[in-house]
Amino acid sequence: MTDYSSIAGFRPAWLGDGRKKLLIDGQAVEARSGETFKSFSASTGELVAELALAGEADVDRAVKASRAAFEGPWSRFKPAERQALLLRLAELVDAEFDDLAMLDTLEMGRPITASKGLRGMLQRSLRHFAGVASAIHGQTLGNSFPVELLSYTLREPVGVVGAIIPWNGPLFSAAWKIGPVLATGCTVVLKPAEDAGLSALRFAELCHEAGVPPGVVNVVTGAGATGAALSAHPDVDKIAFTGSGPTGQRIVEASARTFKKVSMELGGKSPNIIFADADLDAAIPAAAMGVFNNSGQVCAAGTRLFVERPVYDEVVARLASFAQGLKIGLSLDPSTQIGPLVSQRQYERVAGYLALGPQQGARLVTGGARVTEGGLDKGYWVEPTVYADVADDMRIACEEIFGPVASIMPFDSFDEVIARANSSRFGLAGGVWTKDINKAMAAVKRIRAGSVWVNHYFAMDPAVPFGGYKMSGFGREGGSEHIDAYLQTKGVWIRTE
Ligand code: NAI
Ligand code: MG
Repeated sequence: MTDYSSIAGFRPAWLGDGRKKLLIDGQAVEARSGETFKSFSASTGELVAELALAGEADVDRAVKASRAAFEGPWSRFKPAERQALLLRLAELVDAEFDDLAMLDTLEMGRPITASKGLRGMLQRSLRHFAGVASAIHGQTLGNSFPVELLSYTLREPVGVVGAIIPWNGPLFSAAWKIGPVLATGCTVVLKPAEDAGLSALRFAELCHEAGVPPGVVNVVTGAGATGAALSAHPDVDKIAFTGSGPTGQRIVEASARTFKKVSMELGGKSPNIIFADADLDAAIPAAAMGVFNNSGQVCAAGTRLFVERPVYDEVVARLASFAQGLKIGLSLDPSTQIGPLVSQRQYERVAGYLALGPQQGARLVTGGARVTEGGLDKGYWVEPTVYADVADDMRIACEEIFGPVASIMPFDSFDEVIARANSSRFGLAGGVWTKDINKAMAAVKRIRAGSVWVNHYFAMDPAVPFGGYKMSGFGREGGSEHIDAYLQTKGVWIRTE
């Protein structure tokens, strides 16, 4: 029997003695201050690594290296060279994928089977960005200026990018920030989350192994203050952020001083609507995993589940029984479906909402408690939780919990449910379940969110835009807009007579 209660036999060799430095200008360097911070396993509580804590001086050094690289030989890489580099990176990442997935699982606790499940998505993404590298183009434009002038546009890399990512999908987030950087010829200083920075660090090393020149991809590990220094740095041209709304607001404020280009991938409280004619056998498990996947630590989680009255009781009962059947366990155990929350801080946040639900009158159908038995006392597991009869104005129905908590609400008519689905300050995603194509298309049109899935919940692809309406952010990742955000447009005029 394998022992999943210790990370001892699972640490990738790359971790070595567990001390990790910053990656600046192609070199592993200590923070100027010599300060470090520790990263612990969300599942076993053990120390995973001790990382360098980047301060303002280190961020400045990384930005300078990034600027120099942007103006150096990297600027003369041909599109096909950047493409070849991304394809090499895809191969290196694939060869080391199990270790990369393990780093995420060790730090933030996502069940190992789920971490390993991201392999195909990561490959598709890097290969997509490789394709993009040789497909960037401007336009030739007719003009009506009185003398003969040829006008056309050049697409140019925006420059030094500051990328700030969260802990809920570290490797994936790093790839979706660094991929477009390499495709477009930008350079980047990446600040991973303090709870899970290792896979991003290793990913950046692999970029160098793939042939990225020093200074193009830099990683500064640290907490909020490191991210704040990056978002305020005057020589950063663009900030790409994924994380919480309040932090996003601070970044926008800091970036305003030098008018950086900014993209914000923030949270949500996404509606998932099950009409009475839906295929419930498909809808129920998908709706459940739309909330419980990654223990609810997913920006697009479908946490407001609207169910049409005739099937309401049935959906509540079957969803609860599905939730009860999920296997809660240690992150390293391949049979585990529900792992721990990332940290005590995140648990306290979720626990606050678990207390609020019943207080505000929601009916607890299943879950609602922390799990500690079976060796689960070193981290923070929360049972998949279902609240029924939730009112739209309860805090559990309005605020992003980022834990495995579903709020189910009955509805009676199409117009009513659309209005209620939209009465949220968020607009990241939404789901619709019906066999009626006209109803589905009408709902798609009226839901105010950046992604809508019909008879499915949650899908992402590098070719398809993903991002927020309203307070879920602005800018898109995936699709052509993702790439546009890393490019500037120059209008060129040439006198031709
Ligand atoms: P956060 O938004 O504070 O952290 C995300 C990243 O921003 C991390 O790398 C962090 O170090 C950095 N950061 C923190 N303060 C910063 C600042 N002032 N300037 C620049 N960068 C800064 O999110 P946190 O605190 O980890 O989680 C709190 C809640 O946020 C969660 O419970 C969840 O509701 C939401 N969240 C949403 C995510 C999403 O994917 N939409 C991801 C992570 C958190
Ligand atoms: Mg941790």
